[in-house]
Amino acid sequence: MKMLEGKVAAVTGAASGLGRAMALAFAGEGMHAALADVDEPGLKSTLNEVQSRGVRAFAMRVDVSRYQEVESFCSKAIAQFGATHVVCNNAGVSPLGAVWENTLADWQWILGVNLWGVIHGVRAFVPRLLAQGEGHVVNTASVAGLISPPGMGAYNVTKHAVVALSESLYHDLRLRGSPVGVSVLCPAYVPTGIADSERNRPRELLNPAKSSSKEETMLKKAVASGKLSADDVARAVVAAVKEERFYVLTHPRIKGAIRARMEDILDERAPRNPLAL
Ligand SMILES: NC(=O)c1ccc[n+]([C@@H]2O[C@H](COP(=O)([O-])OP(=O)(O)OC[C@H]3O[C@@H](n4cnc5c(N)ncnc54)[C@H](O)[C@@H]3O)[C@@H](O)[C@H]2O)c1
Repeated sequence: MKMLEGKVAAVTGAASGLGRAMALAFAGEGMHAALADVDEPGLKSTLNEVQSRGVRAFAMRVDVSRYQEVESFCSKAIAQFGATHVVCNNAGVSPLGAVWENTLADWQWILGVNLWGVIHGVRAFVPRLLAQGEGHVVNTASVAGLISPPGMGAYNVTKHAVVALSESLYHDLRLRGSPVGVSVLCPAYVPTGIADSERNRPRELLNPAKSSSKEETMLKKAVASGKLSADDVARAVVAAVKEERFYVLTHPRIKGAIRARMEDILDERAPRNPLAL
């Protein structure tokens, strides 16, 4: 989509980090904004900042793991603005640990937000984009959707699935002759609230006895040390939407690890640890 001014962006996970930065970047392009998150104070603050850019916007408490809430968000955006054009399925969380140590609650929580959240966004919004013959879907995956670092298997599973879902969505839209575009965002570490995502875990999916792990300390350090800011990543997303670019790899240095994984697969050898390359 070359022309963004006056169009409408819908963003999940808009209260913090990359979602907040994307909402502000699209508002900076003159787009109106529909903002969703479970964090209501954070949403309010993003809403105020977006409105201060002179565009129309609303914010809604939406748990993306619940289809009915995503559908209501989509309906409200269409009721308010008449259409949506850029849909960012971005909300995400990151419980850590070895795959056999993750509790069923961990799996349910992360699959619900990171994968079902994207499925719900696609299911609610894409038929409307198809019908209007215009739009662009941005699914936030991660480099963890292209490589599989140790200690975060559940996260890797959801992000590989988001990459596969996005590639499939792209092919399906092309087969239907639709002009609707797709991008999959695959950043490496960016300083945001992601290493503190336990703050948003629903009570019914808590791990009662779990204490902070070595992996959590390492993730916090890695995320905090990220060289690109959320605003840098949001700028890359805006450019990808305008250029209709599918893969958005914001951190070129990680490409060596992606290439190593592809070579390991094609050479049929055991996977090298991407963090040790
Ligand atoms: N920060 C990074 O290093 C990094 C790298 C690669 C990918 N990502 C991905 O970027 C996306 C955004 O994360 P971030 O880094 O900005 O973290 P963040 O914690 O700053 O923002 C995530 C947002 O998602 C919201 N959220 C959590 N559960 C939700 C739910 N059930 N329904 C609706 N909203 C919910 C949170 O309240 C929060 O506002 C995630 O999908 C994450 O996996 C982040």
